[in-house]
Amino acid sequence: MLNDEEVKTGQIADLDLQALWMPFTANRQFKKNPRMLVAAEGMYYTAKDGSKIMDGTAGLWCVNAGHGHRQIVEAVQQQVAKLDYCPGFQIGHPDSFELAGRLADLAPSDLNHVFFANSGSEAVDTALKIALAYHVVRGEGGRQRLIGRERGYHGVGFGGISVGGMVNNRKFFGSLLPGVDHLPHTHDLGHNAFSRGEPGWGAHHADALESLVALHGASTIAAVIVEPVAGSTGVLLPPQGYLRRLREICDKYGILLIFDEVITGFGRLGASFASQHYGVVPDMITMAKGMTNGTVPMGGVLVRKGIYDAFMEGSDSGIELFHGYTYSGHPLACAAANAALDVYLKEGLMTRAAELHDYWEDAVHSLRGLPHVIDLRNVGLVAGIELEPRPGGPGERAFEAFLSCFEKGVLIRTTGDIIALSPPLIIEKKEVDQLFGTVAEVLRSLA
Ligand SMILES: Cc1ncc(COP(=O)(O)O)c(C=O)c1O
Repeated sequence: MLNDEEVKTGQIADLDLQALWMPFTANRQFKKNPRMLVAAEGMYYTAKDGSKIMDGTAGLWCVNAGHGHRQIVEAVQQQVAKLDYCPGFQIGHPDSFELAGRLADLAPSDLNHVFFANSGSEAVDTALKIALAYHVVRGEGGRQRLIGRERGYHGVGFGGISVGGMVNNRKFFGSLLPGVDHLPHTHDLGHNAFSRGEPGWGAHHADALESLVALHGASTIAAVIVEPVAGSTGVLLPPQGYLRRLREICDKYGILLIFDEVITGFGRLGASFASQHYGVVPDMITMAKGMTNGTVPMGGVLVRKGIYDAFMEGSDSGIELFHGYTYSGHPLACAAANAALDVYLKEGLMTRAAELHDYWEDAVHSLRGLPHVIDLRNVGLVAGIELEPRPGGPGERAFEAFLSCFEKGVLIRTTGDIIALSPPLIIEKKEVDQLFGTVAEVLRSLA
């Protein structure tokens, strides 16, 4: 661990970077020119050279209350000294029950049971397994088919990449889960470029579910999983009416609807969950990231009462669901999550994205007309800036923008040729100006 002097001065003994295989990273590029962060507070990281880097992405969409929030830090410190670990199988600790109750209260409608995991990927696999098992316990075990969506991102477990639709995340990893099909994605620049908020065109893409039902038979389909707003693929917003239409078709055929809210949960769109923002209630919600403000890994699945109840049959002493993780409901994660919820509620962060919406939207669309910008998208405190790919070098332009913004003291995120922004929800207007000012300057300078 770095000592205080090293953090303050950035003078750190040279590290050998070779042993670490970094995730979703151009390892050789990074190791030639490392971008190393050593501390963080509020809206800012401190880089190895002591410079401040504004966090335009809330880490990876997770640090909603800003970095190093004292209340969350202290809750975790106290918990590790009090109860460092407790098994979650056949034993419990009070904080996990308290947290589950609080999450159930936040959730829409009767999604009032929670299963804990340790990441978004685990939350997704858990939800898919619950969907399959639910149909089995109800005597409809023929419902084994899972439906995802092109360009969807549901983490990196085999379940998640099977229902996911980002080609590079799938194509190296064999034949994946059998019996999976995909809805078409809804991205259409021809009809929807430069929409403010949800695009007006494209709700009919939900009707592709009718076609899949016709093709496979409703009695074979267990669940549909979508991100209400697709983040990792480059900020794709649902066309107006699309999610409601999906809900109606799922209801018509007894298919469970899962919203993957790993990035949209905990205030990102201006409500606790995207489900409330869009007024559409799914059967399960997956969550992670903002759950603990990114401090301790945690994920979970919110489940409707009827699903939970379907499992609570038979002998009282029989295990109802053969699934769980050593760290499900880990005491440190629960302490962090309970403290994060306190902070989100006390500081009004669940609704702050709604309050800043107009200012943010105008800032996003102020980039219109800058070189290479072919679309701008916004919802809550999320922005997608789509760049024209360089001929023969897809993704290069956005990656150069990322490197250049970092040099100028702003952390952005890119996927392909799309820049995705999702700052901590504590961002102030002057920081919104700084963020978009830097992005604009960089866009002007790119070849
Ligand atoms: C919608 C969605 N689902 C799942 C995941 C996976 O989460 P994790 O990286 O915690 O496994 C992500 C991560 O970005 C996500 O955006």
